[in-house]
Amino acid sequence: MFSQVSTPPSAPPAPQLRAAIRDLCEERKAVILAHYYQDDAIQDVADFIGDSLELSRKAASTEAEVIVFCGVHFMAETAKILNPGKTVLVPDLEAGCSLADACPAEAFAAFRAQHPDHYVVSYINCSAAVKAQSDLICTSSNAVHLIEQLPVERPILFAPDQNLGRWVARQTGRELTFWPGSCIVHETFSEQALLQLRLQHPEAEVIAHPECQQHLLDLADFIGSTSKLLERVTSSPAESFIVLTEPGILHQMRRRAPQKSFHDVPGADGCSCNTCPYMRLNTMEKLWRCLEQLEPGIELEESLRQRALAPIERMLAMSA
Ligand code: 13P
Ligand code: SF4
Repeated sequence: MFSQVSTPPSAPPAPQLRAAIRDLCEERKAVILAHYYQDDAIQDVADFIGDSLELSRKAASTEAEVIVFCGVHFMAETAKILNPGKTVLVPDLEAGCSLADACPAEAFAAFRAQHPDHYVVSYINCSAAVKAQSDLICTSSNAVHLIEQLPVERPILFAPDQNLGRWVARQTGRELTFWPGSCIVHETFSEQALLQLRLQHPEAEVIAHPECQQHLLDLADFIGSTSKLLERVTSSPAESFIVLTEPGILHQMRRRAPQKSFHDVPGADGCSCNTCPYMRLNTMEKLWRCLEQLEPGIELEESLRQRALAPIERMLAMSA
């Protein structure tokens, strides 16, 4: 006797995927949250697009029964920490983050033990197990505002992005002790290509994400999180911009300011490694499939979830 193995349904052809995804969202009472670094088509089909802080806020307030997180693992995990009773899906579970990967929980515990008197501030780009060891979570949108609220006499440990940490230290005048992590995408931009672009477009404003290395931030006219960069392209009188962050965001920049021009900065050696290889693992087809099958989902052990929740709730309260 042969047991019957059901073959998973195949995804609709590309031109019908968008409508099929929206139909499934309705059926499953699902909401799609997407980060600005996702492919254009995913941004266009999402219910809400935002930076890490906005997406966390949205995840905390949504009434949908199912959250499909089109971003990377730590973002979906944050949504699950905030919504233990809901189904939280991510189109590709392998969509990680070099910052989160470079800060393993056990090594981080040993690092903390060397600095027992320090207040631990962790960038949201880290695992639940690192969040659980932190006093406060921050994003690139609110890091300066949060650190400014901490007592000046208290030493601070900042993890896992040393580039963001150094920028926050310069903005706040606080001395921070850094975990030595960085983002593989923001470390790849070529200074030579940036200088070349400035020569070609001398009128352009250079705008940069604080995950970039300092020698690039020193060349920027404006520095901020993805949402702040997006606001800048409409609030600035400049007509053209050189953008030092993942180029997925150019889709929304062109939407908000269609009359302006935008230039992304290539990686060293002209490679196309300025796109985030993790974010780009999510595709429209995988998005359709995860809505259809209601997997892969994020699962978390309850005591870990509770320990990771406290510093996230502190962040949401302090950045309100
Ligand atoms: P934002 O919070 O600025 O969107 O940054 C998230 C991120 O992963 C940047 O690389
Ligand atoms: Fe992580 Fe960098 Fe990708 Fe952002 S761009 S998700 S920090 S690897």
